[in-house]
Amino acid sequence: MIASAQAFGIDIGGSGIKGAPVDLNAGKFAIDRTRIPTPEQSTPEAVADIVTQLLDTYDVEPGTPVGIAFPAPIRPGKPIGFIANLDKSWVGVDIDALFSEKSGRTVRVVNDADAAGLAEVQFGAAKGQNGLVIATTLGTGIGTALIMNGVLIPNTELGHLELEGKDAERYTSDAARSRKELSWEKWGGRLTKYYKMLEYYFSPELFVIGGGVSKKSEKFFKYIDVATPIVPAALLNDAGIIGAAYFAHSQSAH
Ligand code: BGC
Repeated sequence: MIASAQAFGIDIGGSGIKGAPVDLNAGKFAIDRTRIPTPEQSTPEAVADIVTQLLDTYDVEPGTPVGIAFPAPIRPGKPIGFIANLDKSWVGVDIDALFSEKSGRTVRVVNDADAAGLAEVQFGAAKGQNGLVIATTLGTGIGTALIMNGVLIPNTELGHLELEGKDAERYTSDAARSRKELSWEKWGGRLTKYYKMLEYYFSPELFVIGGGVSKKSEKFFKYIDVATPIVPAALLNDAGIIGAAYFAHSQSAH
């Protein structure tokens, strides 16, 4: 693997699985990432094969910390209890053990939104921010990360709060925008309801909005009407990979 990288990050999403070596001094990819579409049948076996393929593509040396951002609550050593946007056969799987066994190395798994939030606090839009930061990812689902004075409170799953009688991510994720062909303004109205609810419950200092659509923030931020400052993710959609690599590196130091 390229010398400027200290860790390798992989982000598993509903539509793509992406990986890159990460330069943790700079907080960016050491070389371009590779994206492989998520298989139609996103079973543990099929996804684990792609993870191994990504590690082989970059010749990741044994001993390099490898972090994987995954779209479900993750408790080390405990099986997956709930999955919204990948194959349901993930429930009951010991994910650390599966990936480690398949790839022949120790990997560390972290929730995808938590990874993105960590990256934004460490290297991006929330760097140096005191108090509570809520980072959200808008994609196939809605992911959330709560970070208080730089410390992550993991597995918050606030994309599944109820909004307008529905699971909030069904109502207002980026996938819901495409599915319902919502205008930016209409979608902004739905996002306003969602972020107002988070504001009401948590009184954060800052919202960071990530996910693929964050690169189009100029199209919809103007329609989100909340009192809390709201900024696009500085690392855009790279935050999951960078945060996963950062997480693995920090864990392997213990
Ligand atoms: C999952 C979360 C995940 C989010 C974003 C939700 O459906 O339950 O764990 O962080 O999607 O991928």
